[in-house]
Amino acid sequence: MKYNKTITLKDGRTCCLRNGEEKDGAAVLTNFNLTHQETDNLLTYPDENTFDEKQEAEFLKSMEESENEIEILAVIDGVVAGTAGFHSMGNKYKMKHRADFGIAIAKEYWGLGIGKALTKACIWCAREAGYTQLELEVVAENESAVAMYEKAGFVAFGRNPRGFNSRQTGYQEVVSMRLEL
Ligand SMILES: CC(C)(COP(=O)(O)OP(=O)(O)OC[C@H]1O[C@@H](n2cnc3c(N)ncnc32)[C@H](O)[C@@H]1OP(=O)(O)O)[C@@H](O)C(=O)NCCC(=O)NCCS
Repeated sequence: MKYNKTITLKDGRTCCLRNGEEKDGAAVLTNFNLTHQETDNLLTYPDENTFDEKQEAEFLKSMEESENEIEILAVIDGVVAGTAGFHSMGNKYKMKHRADFGIAIAKEYWGLGIGKALTKACIWCAREAGYTQLELEVVAENESAVAMYEKAGFVAFGRNPRGFNSRQTGYQEVVSMRLEL
């Protein structure tokens, strides 16, 4: 899928929302490792990442060529500030209407409007791809993310009190949310 849009952030800077491409492999891997060490609200720890730069580049290329999946980068002054994307939850008839959404932005860029814009971009693309439901899981204590999702129209449909087991804090409640497209 293709996506390309330039937005103005709350601080006046310009941010380009565009597909990740093969050439972005190293930058996206750097951003992934940074975001996953800056917060305890994501699924994996940096040491659990199995991708190297080449695999990341191949992944981005496959996403760009995909008809129903995407990985969108938020790029500011040539730097990858964050990423968001969705993936099909299965190609069987009973599942192919569902896609799984994920997003992470480096801490120094929080609160500028990137999360909202990336979420909106992914919702638009998921609808274009023909999905009728976009889903996500979020740590209940991640208040800014929960607020952002609710504003985008996501509705909670379940809570798992032992959804994650954090190395730092132990069990984290995880909320399942869905958006009808
Ligand atoms: C959650 C995250 C994606 C939000 O991105 P962001 O770029 O900071 O969000 P935005 O600036 O676009 O703000 C979007 C909304 O989030 C909420 N929000 C953002 N910062 C907030 C804060 N400090 N406190 C409360 N709500 C906040 C607001 O509802 C805001 O909407 P508004 O601008 O209309 O008030 C970002 O903090 C992040 O990547 N965190 C680490 C990874 C993560 O938690 N990912 C989600 C996993 S499910």
